[in-house]
Amino acid sequence: EAGLLEINAVKIRDYSTNKHMKVDDYPYGGGAGLVMQPEPVYRAYKDLEKDMKKKPRVVYLTPQGTTFHQEMAKELAKEEELVFLCGHYEGIDQRVLDKYIDMEISIGDYILTGGETAAMVLIDSVSRLIPGVLGSAESAGDESFSQAGLLEYPQYTRPRVFEGMEVPSVLLNGDHKKINQWRREQSLLTTARNRPDLLLTAALTPEEKLWLQQQDLL
Ligand code: ADE
Repeated sequence: EAGLLEINAVKIRDYSTNKHMKVDDYPYGGGAGLVMQPEPVYRAYKDLEKDMKKKPRVVYLTPQGTTFHQEMAKELAKEEELVFLCGHYEGIDQRVLDKYIDMEISIGDYILTGGETAAMVLIDSVSRLIPGVLGSAESAGDESFSQAGLLEYPQYTRPRVFEGMEVPSVLLNGDHKKINQWRREQSLLTTARNRPDLLLTAALTPEEKLWLQQQDLL
């Protein structure tokens, strides 16, 4: 509506030449499942490409891809146009992938029925980086993974008492040095608990490393 981005969904089945609009067939070499044939994918892509200013970056969504992360979202957000190719069944014939795909992305170590929901995840994370998509109240900067590689600290808002639980008192006294220190500690604790792998690459001070080691968290 605001003209910030445009999404064009293409149905590969529309590019089948088969009378049943079939786009898949048995794998050469045998094995379970079906493979998407190269020609409908090729025709769908060619049809898209002809309306584009230059050769677009083509991303294939597959569990065999590199795992998606925030830095990749930032890279993709620089592109004027992107094509997300979504596979089904046991995947797509390798020849059309070899010829037209620039990168293969997985959204995590689990199997979806198709790449479409993965493409939606990418579209969401990339479009929120486009200037104007987020309101000023929800800027895309100061959040998990942007903060020296640590997870975010917990947040509180009104009411001050909820179901008998108080907001941590440090947040109420207006001492910003103390507040920042508390938040940093909370970030470290959350990261140690939920994503200890991130601590190995996070930008930690020698004091923070010692503090974590003393609590057996690093
Ligand atoms: N297609 C099926 N599973 C997927 C995953 N985890 N990521 C991206 N595409 C997929």
